[in-house]
Amino acid sequence: MENQVRRAQAGFENDVNSMGVRLYNLIILLVDIIVVNIKWILYTIESVYHIFSPPPEVDVRGEIVLITGAAHGIGKELALQYARRGAIVVCWDINEKGNIETCDEIKAQGGKAYHYVCDVTKRQEILDVAEKVKKEVGIVSILVNNAGIMPCHPLLQHTEKEITTMYQINVLAHFWMIQAFLPDMIEKNRGHIVALSSCAGLFGLKNLVPYCGTKFAVRGYMQALQEELRADSRNPNVKFTTIYPYMVDTGLCKRPHARFEHLLKLVKPEEAAASIIEAQRRGIEEASVPRRYYYLEKYGRLFPRKAMVLVTDLLDTGVHSDL
Ligand SMILES: NC(=O)c1ccc[n+]([C@@H]2O[C@H](COP(=O)([O-])OP(=O)(O)OC[C@H]3O[C@@H](n4cnc5c(N)ncnc54)[C@H](O)[C@@H]3O)[C@@H](O)[C@H]2O)c1
Repeated sequence: MENQVRRAQAGFENDVNSMGVRLYNLIILLVDIIVVNIKWILYTIESVYHIFSPPPEVDVRGEIVLITGAAHGIGKELALQYARRGAIVVCWDINEKGNIETCDEIKAQGGKAYHYVCDVTKRQEILDVAEKVKKEVGIVSILVNNAGIMPCHPLLQHTEKEITTMYQINVLAHFWMIQAFLPDMIEKNRGHIVALSSCAGLFGLKNLVPYCGTKFAVRGYMQALQEELRADSRNPNVKFTTIYPYMVDTGLCKRPHARFEHLLKLVKPEEAAASIIEAQRRGIEEASVPRRYYYLEKYGRLFPRKAMVLVTDLLDTGVHSDL
């Protein structure tokens, strides 16, 4: 009888305890939800505030900036403008002549630049040249994955080689570059990775099916990498900026067209580079060039695809086949 009473008492205490634990967990959950809501509102207000008053630009004087595809176009302009802002620029390109010209221009302006030939489709070559850079120049603190190609015709007319090479340059090379340089950034607890996506990484466009795939991939891996480092217990101070340029007048877009040419005119490479550097220096995580297209994509996604197709047809901008 006594045992039965004791067992009943113990059962009652267990029930009370487990109710207590459940109540405690419920309170913790409610507090978490309230905190998330408050922070959500604060971050939203902060991001709207930053549209009108962006964070200050950090100084890049003395930073070692490595740019792939620095012999021509946006990469060349980035090299010239980073050097003008006092950075030490490391130019990589498969095109040695153009790369040397970029460095000569920088030196003629009184800047510091180093040139290296590297075919970024080759992982081992990337790793070998990266070692040379570390010995001869130092630890890279800003990496700009810029080199890219853009064959432009219907998917069914793309060759296997075109598609494979495009993925090697526009996506896989970014991974090899990051594997070569990110460990030093983590160790030094400072660094910035900039990746060139494209407006073709925000909107799907005809004649650019594989290219859009590569540029959407850049957006995806940059977000994932940022998440991976956020979960890293060392909490490394490495920043990320993904850039989505509209058509830039470098010759990469061979046959661009736009219904409203004045509204949607090609961006000059100098303007694109200035805008990219500004986004990096302000620590902006994602930016289009010009800035407005990024917001168009963000809000456009709230509406049905059919509605966005109306906008696509109205603007009628893109590239004709280069065949
Ligand atoms: N020009 C545009 O309209 C536009 C628009 C959106 C995004 N982008 C992106 O911006 C980046 C730069 O474009 P751009 O217009 O300056 O191009 P570009 O053709 O003017 O220059 C690209 C540079 O990359 C180099 N390169 C190509 N293959 C290479 C390889 N295997 N190894 C090393 N270097 C290599 C080329 O030699 C060249 O110097 C690309 O990623 C491109 O996709 C360009």
